[in-house]
Amino acid sequence: MATFLRSLNKRSAYLIGTVTAVSHTASANGNFNGYKLGENFRFKKFGSVLMSTAIVHLARKEEGKDYNDFQKVYNAIAQKIRDKKDYDDGTGYGPKLVRLSWHSSATYDKKDNSGGSYGGTFRYPKEATDPLSKGLSDATDFLAPIYDQFPWISHGDLYTLGGVTAIQELHGPKIPWRPGRVDTGEESVPDHGRLPEPFWNADYVRKYYDKFNFTDQEVVALIGAHILGKTHLKNSGYDGPWDDDTNIFSNEFFSNLLKEDWKYEKNAAGNMQYDAKKGIMMLPSDYALRQDPKYLVYVKKYANDQDLFFEDFKNVYVKLIERGITFDESCPRYVFKTIDEQQDKKGN
Ligand code: HEM
Repeated sequence: MATFLRSLNKRSAYLIGTVTAVSHTASANGNFNGYKLGENFRFKKFGSVLMSTAIVHLARKEEGKDYNDFQKVYNAIAQKIRDKKDYDDGTGYGPKLVRLSWHSSATYDKKDNSGGSYGGTFRYPKEATDPLSKGLSDATDFLAPIYDQFPWISHGDLYTLGGVTAIQELHGPKIPWRPGRVDTGEESVPDHGRLPEPFWNADYVRKYYDKFNFTDQEVVALIGAHILGKTHLKNSGYDGPWDDDTNIFSNEFFSNLLKEDWKYEKNAAGNMQYDAKKGIMMLPSDYALRQDPKYLVYVKKYANDQDLFFEDFKNVYVKLIERGITFDESCPRYVFKTIDEQQDKKGN
C-alpha cells in the first residue's frame, strides 16, 4: 500500500485510502495494535481482514523549491504586515493571518481524515462563507497578491505559512513549518459546522478538540493565540480585544484571564461576554479555561512561564497545521528567519 501511494506523482493526491489489517490484531473495543481508533471509524469485516476507509493526504513539495524560496514568500508576507500596520486601528494583518491559518486547519476531522489545511480549500466560497469565518476575506485578500508573486505555492502552504510568519513577526515562538500541501478540488470542501462556537462551555470545547486528538494541555496552549487581535461586532457579534497590545504574541492572555475582575454582560449585539474594566474581553469559550479545573492547571502554568507557553504553543500549532497530512523526508521542516534577524545579520 505504502509503495503504491509513493508511486503516485500527480499534483492532486487526494485519495481514498484503504487501511487493511489482519483481524486478530484488533480487539472488540476498537484498539488496533495499541492505536485507539475513534468511535466513528467505520470498520468492515472481510473474512480475516479488517478494512476501513479514510482519506489520505500525501504531501508533495513544490517542485524545485527549497528553503530559500519559501523564505522569500515569508519575507513578502512579513514585509507586507509591516507596510500595512495601520489596518484595523493599528492591529495590523498579523492576527487575521493567524486566524486564517487556524480556520483553514480547523475543518479537520479524525473520523475520516477529511478537511484540514492540506487542500487549501478556504479559497472556495463554500468554505470561506461559513458565518464563523466572517472577516477573514481580509486575510485572503491580503495574501492574493503574494500568491500572484509566487504562483507555484499551494494555497494550503500559503495559508499556513501566513500564520507562521505572523506569529514569528509578532514576537511569538519560532514555528518549524514544512511544505507539501496540494490544492484539491471544490468537492473536498467539508460542509459548514466544523468550526468552534464562542458561546461554548468547557465540556463543548473539550469535545470539539477531540476531533484533532488534542489533550487539555494542547487545547489551552492553542487558545493562548487569543492574545492577538480582537473580536469585532460586525464579524462575530463579540466586541473588543483580549489585551491592550493586540499585535504582540505573549502569555498575557493567561495572566489577564486570572488577574482581572471579569463581569459577564451583554454586548451591543446582545451576546454575553466577559468584560474587564481596562477595556479587554473574553469569549465564554475563553473563560471556560478558567472555570474548568483541568484547564485551569495549564492556564496557571502558562501565566507564570512564558517560555513554557511558547514551547507548548509551538508544538501544538505544528500539529494543527499538519493534521491529516502524510509527509515524508522530501518535505523537511524549515525554521525561517524573521525580518529583524535578517537585518541584524546585514548590520542594520
Ligand atoms: C474554542 C475555540 C475558539 C473560538 C470559539 C474562537 C472564536 C473566535 C472569535 C469569535 C473571534 C472574533 C472574530 C471577529 O469578530 O473578527 C476570534 C478571533 C481570533 N481567533 Fe479565535 N477562536 C477559537 C480558537 C482559536 C485558535 C485555536 C486560534 C489560533 C491558534 C485563534 C486565533 C484567533 C485570532 C488570532 C483572532 C483575532 C482575529 C482578528 O483580530 O481579526 N482562535 N476567535
